[in-house]
Amino acid sequence: MQRRIGVIGGSGVYQISGLDGAQWRRVDTPWGAPSDEILTGRLAGVEMAFLPRHGRGHVHSPASVPFRANIDALKRLGCTEVIAVSAVGSLRADFRPGDMVVLDQFIDRTSGRAGSFFGTGCVAHVSLADPTCAALSAACTQALRAGGATVHEGGTYLAMEGPQFSTRAESRLYRSWGCDVIGMTAMPEARLAREAELCYASVAMVTDYDCWHDGHGAVDVAQVIAVLTANAGTAKAMIAALPGLLGPARAPCPCGCDRALDHALMTAPER
Ligand code: ADE
Repeated sequence: MQRRIGVIGGSGVYQISGLDGAQWRRVDTPWGAPSDEILTGRLAGVEMAFLPRHGRGHVHSPASVPFRANIDALKRLGCTEVIAVSAVGSLRADFRPGDMVVLDQFIDRTSGRAGSFFGTGCVAHVSLADPTCAALSAACTQALRAGGATVHEGGTYLAMEGPQFSTRAESRLYRSWGCDVIGMTAMPEARLAREAELCYASVAMVTDYDCWHDGHGAVDVAQVIAVLTANAGTAKAMIAALPGLLGPARAPCPCGCDRALDHALMTAPER
């Protein structure tokens, strides 16, 4: 089977360069329009599709990102896996600004976001015990290390609703829960990728210490942008290295991400 790597760019990552046959394509879905057009093309002979999560010009706030349309549009374009890049605050002293975290768990504290493709008429319950693809995550770690990044392999992401940053009490609470980083966009994206039977890896750049850290002030956007700008090459180098590591052909996922619905559908096919 041919591979197409989907990349969802977070804050500070609004395009990727070097694609052969690069073309921004409009994709319509039953869930509405995705955040933006999708940039398709080939990198080292591998089909790619890039979508800026917040849209070019950063026009979608975390709550207004059309998560279902984004995942569905990537699926319709033939993506077999999705690598999601985002900016996060750190909830631990040893995850420093500029470090990269390849996430493996999420706690979802968002509210009111459409978080499933299923509902009335067709009911399904997929497993989210391991919400990311271990094989794809390992490739991301390898690609990041090859580019010289400081990488933490595994981490728990607290998905907050925002758009305000957290209070100090919330930040301390999330630390007490064992969360490693905090952000506003990984959920419900990870849930939807699983329902769409896409391998999903979530790669986060630490931009700040959130507000729990006595030695650092409260978070502000200027600080987040400064760290993103200083480390802009890190995520881009990872994306550039991945096609060479993964290759153009794809075997069945060893983790079963591509078969997530096999035992998930509750609704009888004929009634
Ligand atoms: N994105 C980057 N830093 C963040 C923080 N401290 N809280 C939530 N989202 C973030």
